[in-house]
Amino acid sequence: MERLLITGGCGFIGTNLIEYLLDRTDVDINVLDDLSQGKIEYLKSVEGYSEDRIKFIEGDVRNEEDVSAALENCEKVIHLAAQTDVIDSVEDPQNDADINIMGTINLLNESVESSVKRFVFASSAAPLGEQDMPIHEDKVPQPLAPYGASKLAGEGYCSAYAGSFGIKTVALRFSNVYGPKSWHKGSVVSKFIKQILEGETPIIYGDGDQTRDFIHTKDISKALHLSSVQDLESRFELFQIATGKETTINELYSKLKKKLEEKGLAVPEVRYAEEREGEIYRNYADISKAERELNYRPGVTLEEGLEETIDWFLHEY
Ligand SMILES: NC(=O)c1ccc[n+]([C@@H]2O[C@H](COP(=O)([O-])OP(=O)(O)OC[C@H]3O[C@@H](n4cnc5c(N)ncnc54)[C@H](O)[C@@H]3O)[C@@H](O)[C@H]2O)c1
Repeated sequence: MERLLITGGCGFIGTNLIEYLLDRTDVDINVLDDLSQGKIEYLKSVEGYSEDRIKFIEGDVRNEEDVSAALENCEKVIHLAAQTDVIDSVEDPQNDADINIMGTINLLNESVESSVKRFVFASSAAPLGEQDMPIHEDKVPQPLAPYGASKLAGEGYCSAYAGSFGIKTVALRFSNVYGPKSWHKGSVVSKFIKQILEGETPIIYGDGDQTRDFIHTKDISKALHLSSVQDLESRFELFQIATGKETTINELYSKLKKKLEEKGLAVPEVRYAEEREGEIYRNYADISKAERELNYRPGVTLEEGLEETIDWFLHEY
């Protein structure tokens, strides 16, 4: 039976990915997580969870012994563990680099040592910074925050380890991910829903016409799974993973408002505040390379995905 190591498997994307894999594949999973953001209860609440198929190792991706124990019997790695907060990365760039760069190097070293067959790295659109739209794999990266720089370095090391040690690596640049199991996330969809449920007035920074490419966790999970199994031409590949659709924050808010009101909740009018320094204005991706080479097709519309996310929050939060 194939065994896969997922780092950061107790977090938002990790728990959604594990649910997806348990349902659709026979793979067994090792999870390495230091529980700094994720929780063991999040992992245990995953549908289909069983100790026969999931082995949890509490540890840090920067620690050689933890990583070596987590890699036991694993042929493949999906590396999600990271410092994910852009504002924290501005406040403490060294900590961000330590986790995101040194952690990735440590994991790559141990993966080479264990003859891992495929290493998939969760990157982000953040390495690209402000660009003409749509973004794609050939744009020249210009990160605006240390988080974007550390993710760019992670991509660089994936390429370098493929070049120097022959390990097959794939880096995926995710756009804005939303979906169930986002208890602890501060990204816009979960923030708006939590604020509305707690009776607070959500704030839009700027005019609300800034755009994002919102991708549901099922589509992210699909892309991660495909990246771990698909035959690829080069030892290192980079893919933009998104939906290719551009949505303004105003549109997002009015969709959420309408859906929550239909479910009987009182939703306040949003408040506008001055735009925040360093935020990208427009963002959506050309995903044709992932469609062509990974056979990846996003399947969840924003309407469906928001409905599912709201229902999850109403039930679980
Ligand atoms: N959520 C998004 O919109 C988004 C967008 C682009 C990229 N990403 C990337 O996807 C990955 C997963 O993000 P997420 O949203 O699920 O975040 P998350 O914070 O929910 O999950 C990250 C997990 O990693 C764990 N972790 C953190 N530091 C660790 C360390 N040093 N050692 C071991 N475990 C550690 C945390 O406890 C947590 O469970 C990250 O690499 C993130 O940068 C996320």
